[in-house]
Amino acid sequence: MLDTAIRLKRLKSLIHNTPLLAIDFLLAGARRTIYAKAEHLNMSGSIKDRIAYGIMDQAYQDGELSPAAPIIEVTSGNTGIAFAALGRNLGHPVTIFMPDWVSRERYNILKAYGADIVTFGKECSLAEVIGRAEELAEDTPGAFLPRQFASVGNIQAHYSTTGPEIWWQLKFHGLTPQAFVAGVGTGGTVMGVGAFLKEMAPAILAHPLEPKSAPLLSSGTLAGEHRIEGISDGYLPPLLNLASLDRVIGVADGDAIIMAQKLDAELGLGVGISSGANFLGAVLAQNDLGGEAVVATVFADDNKKYLSTDLLRTEQPKNEYLAPRIELLSVQALKRVCYTCCEPEECLAAAPLACTEEFPPPVCPRRK
Ligand SMILES: Cc1ncc(COP(=O)(O)O)c(C=O)c1O
Repeated sequence: MLDTAIRLKRLKSLIHNTPLLAIDFLLAGARRTIYAKAEHLNMSGSIKDRIAYGIMDQAYQDGELSPAAPIIEVTSGNTGIAFAALGRNLGHPVTIFMPDWVSRERYNILKAYGADIVTFGKECSLAEVIGRAEELAEDTPGAFLPRQFASVGNIQAHYSTTGPEIWWQLKFHGLTPQAFVAGVGTGGTVMGVGAFLKEMAPAILAHPLEPKSAPLLSSGTLAGEHRIEGISDGYLPPLLNLASLDRVIGVADGDAIIMAQKLDAELGLGVGISSGANFLGAVLAQNDLGGEAVVATVFADDNKKYLSTDLLRTEQPKNEYLAPRIELLSVQALKRVCYTCCEPEECLAAAPLACTEEFPPPVCPRRK
């Protein structure tokens, strides 16, 4: 029987190295482009596969996660789904604490992946639920708590994978990013990608994004509801350091829904509501810098988790909305690039020299 840490590594190619989508559109008569990582193509359908993979890999190395040990996590959905998919694959029982107000699909997907689910209502704060999960872990021998809201492994996963992929995919096309935008759930994406990009070029802006109707980051007030599942859980995530980031961008949830509907129905992308928000946030960041600016974001998950939500209902446009004014033109999927994609040792192992002599790889016109 293979070691669980090795079995995890064998799943690596199901996660990471997503294509970068170059989306062309018209706004006020001008042709513009936004770049978005197709994170909905990861193993369990979201960007959270990256942190589940990174945190489990590190925990195996540190001896904090033993084979068959229970995994317990608090999540509004995607992180739980990611830990359930990877965890069950590797033989771990997985218990997920999740709000009862998230879409039914999230609950059912977790069930399908074989997770045990503990739900909590709006009367319970996220901080209280995190406390309950900690208590269960204390009473469960060998239990492992990934703690996505507090674990630096969350930021590290984006610093070492999402950030470099964005940088190199753009560089491969002669482009340098000028800004990056991501909706804040735990803050892991914007913190990790932001840190990597700022290290490559300090002038690059990293914007956290939040719903306009629940402006916790920009106002510090815990109030307001919104429909962008996965971000702004009514909790200031301890991983988020606003001082290391640039201005907070606000997007209305109705606008995000209309934008996601357009990305799905007009470009066939099949992304969720936070992807609509991120696309609009990227357009707003581009407005600051000029229409030609290179701005990147992430399409965090797919539309399958939102089939029972307002994503599938008619949303009334409002005068101040941006999405109705955006005319989507086309999408080009930019390939994974060798800088972040190639595992030299794996390539050597997979294609021994004898094999390449018999079936030589196609000739690359750039490197004959
Ligand atoms: C759909 C979706 N978008 C965005 C995010 C936010 O990402 P992060 O937790 O890295 O801030 C999440 C987090 O769960 C999510 O599920």
